[in-house]
Amino acid sequence: MSQESLFLDSGQSDVKEVKPRGRLGLIVTGVLGGSLVALYAVAAPFVTPALRKVCLPFVPATSAQVDNVLRVLRARSGTLVDIGSGDGRIVIAAAKRGFQASGFELNPWLVWYSRYRAWSEGVHRSTSFHISDLWKVSFAQYSNVVIFGVPQMMDQLELKLASELESTAKVVACRFPFPTWVPEHTAGEGIDTVWVYDAKTFKSHLQHGMTRKTTPEHTDPSDTHT
Ligand SMILES: C[S@@+](CC[C@H](N)C(=O)[O-])C[C@H]1O[C@@H](n2cnc3c(N)ncnc32)[C@H](O)[C@@H]1O
Repeated sequence: MSQESLFLDSGQSDVKEVKPRGRLGLIVTGVLGGSLVALYAVAAPFVTPALRKVCLPFVPATSAQVDNVLRVLRARSGTLVDIGSGDGRIVIAAAKRGFQASGFELNPWLVWYSRYRAWSEGVHRSTSFHISDLWKVSFAQYSNVVIFGVPQMMDQLELKLASELESTAKVVACRFPFPTWVPEHTAGEGIDTVWVYDAKTFKSHLQHGMTRKTTPEHTDPSDTHT
């Protein structure tokens, strides 16, 4: 039987030629299949947030947003967590300012990238990144909490943080404020706005059943936003 072709005898008169799949065809099929699997593995963690009940996509903070977070926390120290830490930019910037900073993120690629960046920027000892669903972990141990969320999740997150955090904690919301908490002050403007909340205030409001007030008690004096 030839290497180039295979003849099958299917009875007396019906002879069919079955051409062997060329090596090139196999390689192309393998490469194409492998690429599709790899593409799916990379893309799926970025696409699946859109399919969840609350869609929280990866939208990195702007440099101004990161600066505003650090500015409102300039008198603070200790532990910090970025909830949904994306590529780790807030965690890494906070670690450079002396915080022991952690990130919780659903997308494993972003967590691995964050760890690499923390290592390459020399702050791996003061950072940690966890592949976790923010709704399934407790943030009780953190004294500074940062969240760049979406409006649809903020009321649920208010309840979670109010029940978990110590009274000494501060919470910073980026771009979207919490719906019922009273901010201590704000910084930045437009999409770079951040709101700062004091846990003692929102925990006592929770206990007393107080609700909505959207204007801050103070505005950062170095800031033009009102
Ligand atoms: C708007 S981005 C903010 C990224 C980062 N904090 C920043 O400011 O640059 C929200 C991040 O939350 C992540 N995320 C979405 N749902 C999540 C969940 N249930 N638990 C943890 N992280 C989640 C997304 O993958 C995305 O990286």
